[in-house]
Amino acid sequence: MGKRRLHKGFKNLCCRLAWCGCRQGSGSSSNGSHNSNEETTAMNGSVGERVAILDAGAQYGKVIDRRVRELNVETDILPLDTPAYTLKEKGYRAIIISGGPSSVYAEDAPRYDSDIFKINVPVLGICYGMQLINKEFGGTVLRKATREDGQYTIEVDNFCHIFKYMGVKQNVLLTHGDSIDKVADGFKVVATSGNIIAAIANDKLRLYGVQFHPEVDLTEQGVTMMRNFLYEISGLSGTYTLQNRELQCINYIKEHVGSNKVLMLVSGGVDSTVCAALLHKALSEEQVIAVHIDNGFMRKNESLQVEQSLRKLGLKLRVINARHQFYDGVTSIPVDSSDPMGRKRVTNLLCMTFAPEEKRKIVGDTFIKVANEVIAEMNLRTEEVMLGQGTLRPDLIESASSMVSGNAQNIKTHHNDTDLVRLLRAQGRVVEPLKDFHKDEVRHIGRDLGLLEEFVQRHPFPGPGLAIRVLCADDAYMERDFSETQVVLKVIVDYAASVLKKHALLNRIENCTSEEERQELHRISLSQTLYATLIPVKSVGVQGDCRSYSYVSGLSCDSEPVWEDLVILARLIPKICHNINRVCFIFGGAVKDLVQDVTQTNLTPGVLATLQQADFLANQVLAESGFTEKLAQMPIVLIPVHFDRDPVARLPSCQRSVVLRPFITHDFMTGIPALPGKHIPVELVNKMVAEILGVPGISRVLYDLTSKPPGTTEWE
Ligand code: XMP
Repeated sequence: MGKRRLHKGFKNLCCRLAWCGCRQGSGSSSNGSHNSNEETTAMNGSVGERVAILDAGAQYGKVIDRRVRELNVETDILPLDTPAYTLKEKGYRAIIISGGPSSVYAEDAPRYDSDIFKINVPVLGICYGMQLINKEFGGTVLRKATREDGQYTIEVDNFCHIFKYMGVKQNVLLTHGDSIDKVADGFKVVATSGNIIAAIANDKLRLYGVQFHPEVDLTEQGVTMMRNFLYEISGLSGTYTLQNRELQCINYIKEHVGSNKVLMLVSGGVDSTVCAALLHKALSEEQVIAVHIDNGFMRKNESLQVEQSLRKLGLKLRVINARHQFYDGVTSIPVDSSDPMGRKRVTNLLCMTFAPEEKRKIVGDTFIKVANEVIAEMNLRTEEVMLGQGTLRPDLIESASSMVSGNAQNIKTHHNDTDLVRLLRAQGRVVEPLKDFHKDEVRHIGRDLGLLEEFVQRHPFPGPGLAIRVLCADDAYMERDFSETQVVLKVIVDYAASVLKKHALLNRIENCTSEEERQELHRISLSQTLYATLIPVKSVGVQGDCRSYSYVSGLSCDSEPVWEDLVILARLIPKICHNINRVCFIFGGAVKDLVQDVTQTNLTPGVLATLQQADFLANQVLAESGFTEKLAQMPIVLIPVHFDRDPVARLPSCQRSVVLRPFITHDFMTGIPALPGKHIPVELVNKMVAEILGVPGISRVLYDLTSKPPGTTEWE
């Protein structure tokens, strides 16, 4: 066994994830120590059908896990240095070594037990995993300073088992970082991309390595490769079906809860609602106490729908209307984060607060206050109560891997941290029946339980709800750079003319763009007349490694927009103007006047009702056309901007605008805007716009064209 250098958090990962499966069927333990695998085995009754995913720090670890489970094979994510004898003893039938950020030659490269290749268990190494196998068997790896990931076409040897049933040319997500130089003894090259070795194999020892990511969507036949590895090479049969797991889940709840009661705070989202429905199915009526707190920032009729949905299943949801407590909520926050005395001040009422983080904190703290009051009223005896939570498997993987990367601050905090919730969690009196499931499986269970289709298909919705989708402001955001930035924007959209005129600010563009990009700007500016408007509001973005909070740029025109070109501009504008992190198209014709003020906007019932209606109409159009599932999310945002006011009449700014943010992502770490005409039909977008313009008080509708980075999914 090689030296081990293991981050402490990695142990937690193992413990936590194993815990995620292992407590099913066993009693709770407050100290968190479990004999995980034995218990998992006992619980699942599928001794021979488990795969160990050895984690080398993978970015896509969660996705490997999902893919294998999708093929009905159970997985455990374990540290890379898990001893071979443990893997053998626990009966893992195959091993997948994930990718990772290190180089196999790095000083701090994660350690592994080289005996894992001697226990006659098939191994698939992905990226880092492949290089590790190659090095272990005497091959060498060429080190490169930079890495570049992208979709490439590779050529595969489809006589090799891993590429069985596949064509010779395959599109895959390939990592062009370190690559194999000398192939390991006993291995043959079974895929190439130009002169790069894309896969190696030793069929006799059943060891395989791929330089690309079979687990992601960009590898178009990745699932076939995974199936080949699991079924053809490892001889698994796929007994881990959702139906079996649902039954096990019900048994887990029954055994785990016994005669206790379970308190379930239902947020209105899919996870907590499905969790409540499962608890209801497993337990008796009086055992499940389901409470929903309506904070006033839910979608239109959402609280009612959740209540009706659960009532249809026979579960009575207690809905607390606490809207006014939220609007009038206050909390205390540090006067200054660097104040050594840690002094605090009381915030304004939520309905008078503008700063997004302050809004979030007030909503979070008010929730705790209201929930504490409700729970106190119910006179629950803590020794008889357990806490139900809709935690999913990716939540656990995420929490655990952020511990591994030392990013503990990224760990999801539960916003429902009431006194009782904390106490129950500290005592280990928590029931998390969905902790072994991924999101789409939860939707499936929701459907099986009888929840409405339109309900289970819902997009994720942030805890503070629409409160963070209203951009609150009482003044225009116009720093000293406003006017110059507006001019640079004009130079960008009029690039060809600006070059002819030798505009003084052209150097701003030349400094940040390649020749190719400038040619694109030239072409676009000649092909359509676009107007650029700097919008004096701040939105949140991620630029470099930091969060940014700055201007939004609008683009408009009098003709039909060429969406592909707008996306190119949306990529280039923040690259040239670092003080802009978001670019939108503005529907309704060219915006020719500068926008220099805003409509005062606070979280008040009237403002919320406007956003709720716009959100309702847009989502209705999306659902009716069957496109909800094509998008990961579609935040609808209200911004305090009133366009088209006669500059001479100087009418006050009194209307607001609505932004559509249709977004495509799997991991929410990065993502792209849904492109009209490519991801969603242009007519559908136009219909949403027309419907929203019918809402009183709406000035214009915008379409957010920003990828993440530089713009986050949400605006606040
Ligand atoms: P961003 O905006 O960072 O969002 O790209 C990523 C995902 O997180 C959700 N989100 C939140 N969820 N409380 C939540 O419970 C919040 O304050 C919050 N902010 C963002 C967002 O909707 C997206 O799914």
